[in-house]
Amino acid sequence: MKPAEFARRRRQIMRMIGKGGVALLPSATTKLRNRDVAYEFRQDSDFFYLTGFNEPDALLLLAPGRESGEVLLFCRERDAVRETWDGSRVGPQGAIDDYGVDDAFPIGDIDDIAPGILEQCDRVYHTIGMHPEFDQRLIGWVGALRERGGSHTPDEFISLDHLLHDLRLYKSRAEISAMRRAAKIAVNAHRRAMAAARPGLYEYEVEAEFLHEFRRHGTRAAYLPIVGSGPNSCILHYHANDRRLEEGDLLLADVGCEYDCYASDITRTFPVGGQFSDSQRAIYDLVLRAQEAALSRCEPGRHWNEPHEAAVEVITEGLRRLSILEGGVKTLIKEGAYKRFFMHRTGHWLGMDVHDVGDYRVADQWRLLEPGMALTVEPGVYIPPGSRGVAKRWWGIGVRIEDDVVITRDGHDLLTRGLPRTADEVEALVGSRAA
Ligand code: GLY
Ligand code: MN
Ligand code: MN
Repeated sequence: MKPAEFARRRRQIMRMIGKGGVALLPSATTKLRNRDVAYEFRQDSDFFYLTGFNEPDALLLLAPGRESGEVLLFCRERDAVRETWDGSRVGPQGAIDDYGVDDAFPIGDIDDIAPGILEQCDRVYHTIGMHPEFDQRLIGWVGALRERGGSHTPDEFISLDHLLHDLRLYKSRAEISAMRRAAKIAVNAHRRAMAAARPGLYEYEVEAEFLHEFRRHGTRAAYLPIVGSGPNSCILHYHANDRRLEEGDLLLADVGCEYDCYASDITRTFPVGGQFSDSQRAIYDLVLRAQEAALSRCEPGRHWNEPHEAAVEVITEGLRRLSILEGGVKTLIKEGAYKRFFMHRTGHWLGMDVHDVGDYRVADQWRLLEPGMALTVEPGVYIPPGSRGVAKRWWGIGVRIEDDVVITRDGHDLLTRGLPRTADEVEALVGSRAA
C-alpha cells in the first residue's frame, strides 16, 4: 500500500480529532513464546492502519494543527549490532524519508518530548486497556504535568476506538484490492487442499497444502487453521488437526490468509472420499441454500441482521423438513431451537482483523449495510455424534460454507469467487490431484 494511502487516513482521523486534540497509538510489542523464542511479530492493526510501519517499540502521535509538525513517530534507533542479530530497522530518519511523517524521534526520547506536547492540548485520544504498559506511562506524564504547578493539563480522555474503527469499517479501493488478493490466494489454497484430500491422509497434511500455498505467495495464515474431519467437523474452533481422514468422512476446512495485514476467511466442507452420502448431501445443500439466502440480503439498505435472519429461516425450515427439529417453524425460530445445530452468527466484519472492528448496532438499531463494508457469510449446521433425539444417520455431520463479500453500490462483490460451492462442483474437485 502506498504512503499516500496512510497519509489520507491520518488526515481523515486528524479532521475528526480537531485542533486541541492529541492521538496516541502504540505499536505492538514482541512477545516471548518460550525461552529466547518470540512469537511471530504482528503489528497492531490500528497502528498499522495509520502508519504502514511494521516494527515493534514505536508510537504514533497525531497533533492536528501543531505548527512544528502534526504527525510524529517515535521508533527504534538504527543500531548496527542489533540489526546484525534481528534485521534492519527503519530508524527516525528513515521514517521521515519513507513513511511521510513530519518528524520522528528515538523511542527512548519519548518521556522528554511527549509531555511537552500534551501540555499544549485539551483532549487526549487513546484507547485505554489495550497496551497497559503504555497506559501507565501516559498516566505518569499527565500526573507529572499536574504536579508541576502552572502547566496546562489535558482534561478530556477519549477512546480512539469509536472514530478509528468507524473509519476502518469502510474499506477504500486500496484496501479492497488487498482483500481481493488475500481472498484469491486463499481460494487457490482451498482448491489445492480439496484436490489433494483423500482417505488415509492426516488433517495436518491437508493443513500443509494451505500453508505451502500461503507461504509461496509471501502470506501467512490469518488465524489458526481449522481442519476437522469426521466428528471434528462439529467442533467450531478445532485446532488439533491431527486425525487420520477416513473414507466416508466430511472434512471442514476453515482457513484464510493475511496479505499486507488484510485477512481472508474461507470455509469449505467436502467428502474426503469424493462423494457425499445422502445424509451429508442433504445437510450440505441446506447450508448452501441458507448461504444463498443470506448472500441475497447482502446489499446496501439492508440491516446487519438481515442475512442472518434469512439463514436462520432456511436452516430452521430445512431441519424441520429433515425431522431433525420438530414443531412449527415460526415457534422454532422464536424459541431459537436452531441454535442447538447452528450456534454462531452468519458472519462478521472482515478487514485487517479477521473479526474486524466496527459496531454492529448504532443507536440500538442494527446497522445498515453500505458500500465498502466487508463481511463474511458463513452459515453452518453441526450435529455431533451422540446427539440425543436425532437419528443416527445425521451424527458426525458438520457443515459450514463461508465466503467473503464487500458491499457495493448495487449489491455485493464476492471476493472469494472461483471456489467450488455446490455439492457437484465440490465432488468434482476433491481428490482430483491424486487421480
Ligand atoms: N475463522 C473464524 C471465523 O470463521 O469466524
Ligand atoms: Mn468467519
Ligand atoms: Mn472462518
